[in-house]
Amino acid sequence: TPRRGVSPASDTPRSDTSAVRATGLRAAFRSVRAHTDALAAPLSPEDQVVQSMPDASPTKWHRAHTTWFFEQFLLEPHAPGYRLFDERLAYLYNSYYVAAGPRHARPKRGLITRPDAATVAAYRAHVDAAVDALLADEASLAPEVAAIVEIGLNHEQQHQELILTDILHAFSENPIAPAYDPEWRFRPASRAPGAVALPEGIHTIGHQGDGFSYDNEGPAHRALVGPVEIDRGLVTNGDWLAFINDGGYDDAALWLSDGFAAVQQEGWRAPGHWRQEDGRWHVVTLGGLVPVDPDAPVCHVSYYEADAFARYAGRHLPSEQEWEVAARSGELADAFGVVWQWTRSAYSPYPGFRAAEGALGEYNGKFMINQMVLRGSSLATPPGHARTTYRNFFPPSARWQFTGLRLATFPT
Ligand code: AVJ
Ligand code: FE
Repeated sequence: TPRRGVSPASDTPRSDTSAVRATGLRAAFRSVRAHTDALAAPLSPEDQVVQSMPDASPTKWHRAHTTWFFEQFLLEPHAPGYRLFDERLAYLYNSYYVAAGPRHARPKRGLITRPDAATVAAYRAHVDAAVDALLADEASLAPEVAAIVEIGLNHEQQHQELILTDILHAFSENPIAPAYDPEWRFRPASRAPGAVALPEGIHTIGHQGDGFSYDNEGPAHRALVGPVEIDRGLVTNGDWLAFINDGGYDDAALWLSDGFAAVQQEGWRAPGHWRQEDGRWHVVTLGGLVPVDPDAPVCHVSYYEADAFARYAGRHLPSEQEWEVAARSGELADAFGVVWQWTRSAYSPYPGFRAAEGALGEYNGKFMINQMVLRGSSLATPPGHARTTYRNFFPPSARWQFTGLRLATFPT
């Protein structure tokens, strides 16, 4: 069994649905819900209530919000006779679904001391029991209902990663840099040499066929890709130290205007969670404060930093389509399970994309502006969650996620 919060590296992740199809929905539901509880188990009630910045949410909120998701979208509409655990909780734990009703302000989630952690555990148990009962006779479950269970499980897996990124941000703000899991280590980069050369060609981009995918991965469509050469390996901390020591953070010519403004406003001198102690760079990890390992992939860089680094190196970030074609060929090292990789692609709808009607249509579609696409997955991504067509997205200034990069060259 994988260690708490750590996913094995894999270049060919199975889709979560294959697990669902193998074990059944009810077993998959139990295992995903239990994994959330296992991730929260090392955290005290005080840890679980803190919100270290507006973009990060408390662990207790994540545990309750994922529970509300099943209550709101599965149990209320599809479990006859379901009794709400507490009708006041929808206001607290609806994240952003306007069609699902009014909600509490995101930046104030850390002010919610009640319900306490034990009550949230009881909320989870109440919803678990009702979903378990609904899934008892899986064969008679309507396909639309099964699809809601499946999106609820994938949703909860996204929040499992957020539990780790958000508590790490809180711990990184703490002068004593607590360890979430003293055993936790960054994986060294594969140091795979060379690049994958993609000649110019027309390729199918996006998800097709069986298995779960998010709506933003479709419609599948044809696109012109290449010629481009994409590094097999990721950019490392050693590469990043050279950028720092060469004055990369001071050289406006390397930066987008918004990026350099962020450098100045935020005082960025190094990736997120890095600290200088006795003249040496250290980083707050889930394992606590450790010296920066030059061989590990760089992590906690924003899109702005990734873009500036690529310019410094005389290289480019791959587009999401270039990344997808290269990853599908199986020749990228560390594509999955290490760090999410920034692409130069804006998070936009694929040709012909329309979000579903109703509240669940708000899941991905309404965020398709002012964010950039990340591909792959990170060490905090639950095994089996991501796939080659998976589109993660964050604003260009975000750097508290497990985000790094790989570089590309355009042959002349
Ligand atoms: C895809 C990671 C950007 O953090 O809001 C959670 C995931 N969507 N609940 C986010 C998500 C709905 C989403 N990201
Ligand atoms: Fe959510």
